[in-house]
Amino acid sequence: MLMDGKKLLITGVLMDSSIAFHVARLAQEQGAEVVLTSFGRTFRITQTIARRLPKPAPVIELDVTDTEHLATLADRVGEHTDHLDGVLHSIGFAPRGAFNFMEAPWEDVSTAVHVSAYSLKALAAACLPRMSEGGSVVGLTFDAQYAWPMYDWMGVAKAAFEATNRYLARDLGPRGIRANLVSAGPIATTAAKSIPEFEQFARWGEHAPLGWDVKDPVPAAQACVALLSDWFPATTGEIVHVDGGYHATGF
Ligand SMILES: NC(=O)c1ccc[n+]([C@@H]2O[C@H](COP(=O)([O-])OP(=O)(O)OC[C@H]3O[C@@H](n4cnc5c(N)ncnc54)[C@H](O)[C@@H]3O)[C@@H](O)[C@H]2O)c1
Repeated sequence: MLMDGKKLLITGVLMDSSIAFHVARLAQEQGAEVVLTSFGRTFRITQTIARRLPKPAPVIELDVTDTEHLATLADRVGEHTDHLDGVLHSIGFAPRGAFNFMEAPWEDVSTAVHVSAYSLKALAAACLPRMSEGGSVVGLTFDAQYAWPMYDWMGVAKAAFEATNRYLARDLGPRGIRANLVSAGPIATTAAKSIPEFEQFARWGEHAPLGWDVKDPVPAAQACVALLSDWFPATTGEIVHVDGGYHATGF
């Protein structure tokens, strides 16, 4: 029971393929209580998918670009739990135009950066009133050291996301709050399918020393749960690769 008694806010449960769904499932299996977030027209889908979790989990509204949602988040979380031990940021979005590096207009780039990078700070700040005893903030990145085929401005947003994590670690450390990321290999989720030519990543496993299954979100979810637990007490500003070891090869 790695997460016994832990109270978590988990964003990003869209389908049961979502990495966040498996974080919520594993965390509940390990003893945590979970509150989910969703927004707009996906809200009812999240409520339906939440019924597939081992235990009931309330769903509250959160569009990370909505200042009103952010300003009221701590109070609305407070209707379900008095405090939070951990927060999962499992959010990414870029308009279609952002996946063309040389042609993308600033409007599309700014949306990608707002939803996929700045939102890590916005979410953490909104949760601070419920984290007075410290805790763990965990997010998901796709290795931003490289210029990937077709990832384009989403890759730039992920680079900003990774930098945001380091600054969060700097500013939240004195409050006893850790900030870490899991850098996952490609996983066939709804967000991934919106990336043009995502299928190119199907060969990832041929070059990852441990192999890689694009249909398996569980290894990335397990790492998120570990980082949300008490078992990384002196780790912050870190990026843990869960990619079958691909990042370590020279291919
Ligand atoms: N799938 C992959 O290959 C992969 C690899 C590495 C990292 N990641 C990252 O994992 C995270 C989760 O993505 P996923 O692959 O599970 O896909 P997913 O489509 O299941 O989840 C993405 C979530 O982002 C949410 N979202 C989008 N815009 C939002 C907004 N304005 N406010 C609040 N929520 C919003 C969606 O509702 C959805 O629940 C993302 O940050 C993604 O970049 C994914």
